[in-house]
Amino acid sequence: MDSLLTEDQLMLRDMVRKFAKERIEPEAGDNERNHRFPQEIINEAAEMGLMGIAYPEEFGGAGMDYLSYMIAVEEVSRACASTGVIISAHSSLACDPIFRFGTEHQKQKYLPSMLSGERIGAFSLSESNAGSDAGATQTTAKKVGDKWILNGSKLWATNGKQAGIFVLIASTEPELKTRGVSAFIVDANTPGYSVGKVERKLGIKATSTTEIILDNVELSEDALLGEVNKGFKIAMVTLDGGRLGIASQALGIARASIEDSIKYAKERKQFGQSISKFQAIQWMIADMWCQYESAWLLTWRASKMKNEGLDYSREAAMAKLMASEAAMFCANKCIQIHGGNGYTEDFNAERYYRDAKITEIYEGTSEIQRLVISRSLLKD
Ligand code: CAA
Repeated sequence: MDSLLTEDQLMLRDMVRKFAKERIEPEAGDNERNHRFPQEIINEAAEMGLMGIAYPEEFGGAGMDYLSYMIAVEEVSRACASTGVIISAHSSLACDPIFRFGTEHQKQKYLPSMLSGERIGAFSLSESNAGSDAGATQTTAKKVGDKWILNGSKLWATNGKQAGIFVLIASTEPELKTRGVSAFIVDANTPGYSVGKVERKLGIKATSTTEIILDNVELSEDALLGEVNKGFKIAMVTLDGGRLGIASQALGIARASIEDSIKYAKERKQFGQSISKFQAIQWMIADMWCQYESAWLLTWRASKMKNEGLDYSREAAMAKLMASEAAMFCANKCIQIHGGNGYTEDFNAERYYRDAKITEIYEGTSEIQRLVISRSLLKD
């Protein structure tokens, strides 16, 4: 697959791979067990430009393309899926909508501090009754004079505890449903804004996933992102890009599962030889690699389409669907190859398995990805 990447992309991959191996991997298990956000690592990643890979240098980004970003998220996630999604949620779900839909003033105001990693970004769309049905948001934004007043509560915000800037979706004309929803840029220091419940999760425990409470949060007019009542489309376009970030995270988990399986299979001896000599193990490794590379190619194609400004919603859904299923498949086989050892915390296999599961759920469940794919194929 190296032949599909440019020299710059290969150089970036090797640089991030080294950083992930030397710096992220050694403390990934510990951060996970202690629910510890890897702030030092994020600071170092930011110094390397990883918090703003696919954004122009004029706003403080690294000026690379979306494929480069995908490669970096995969490499980081190969070492630690939590760190991968911290970068992905920040970059795809917060920086991207501000960059794409923000005014020049909003871009100048928010992007430099976000792309430098000084302020982490988050996206707040979901609510207790608005998960897959993202248009059912009950959080309201009312125009009072020249201010917006926001009330309600949101759920499942990745980076919720650490983020300084949120792109948040609220209903501005509830009777219009998806056509009455708007997007706002919310500074976490605004009075009335607070972080509620911090979720205890099955995996990606080094990230924070939180409730966000909005109690008469007063925003100035220029907090509106894009046009009024056009927020649902902003959310959908944002999620198209986000799904490539999650596909890349899933690819990282799948590759970690395969590489650990190969290492273990060569070392582990049973019946007088290493278990890699048995066809049962060889076939599992072959199936894992086929799943990984198929998903990688779908993700590569969708990233290329995004770079080229093509409509890539369906391709992003396909990439996310197949990469997340590849991650689950590979993590499951990784435990199987490790046998009883794979079921213990002495090996990483159980962490990969727990981390893989969320990739089938967030930023659109596998069922929602199938819906997006089939709708685009069946439309008149
Ligand atoms: N790009 C641009 N516009 C889009 C679009 C896209 N990808 N998808 C839909 N739209 C537009 C439609 O064209 C339509 O436009 P009009 O009003 O002009 O007709 C409008 O949006 C409404 O579209 P639908 O009728 O298709 O809307 P729907 O209510 O049927 O919902 C859905 C469609 C695909 C199910 C959508 O609700 C969805 O993606 N749900 C999943 C939400 C999701 O991924 N949530 C995860 C939240 S983020 C997260 O996980 C937390 C985190 O921090 C990681």
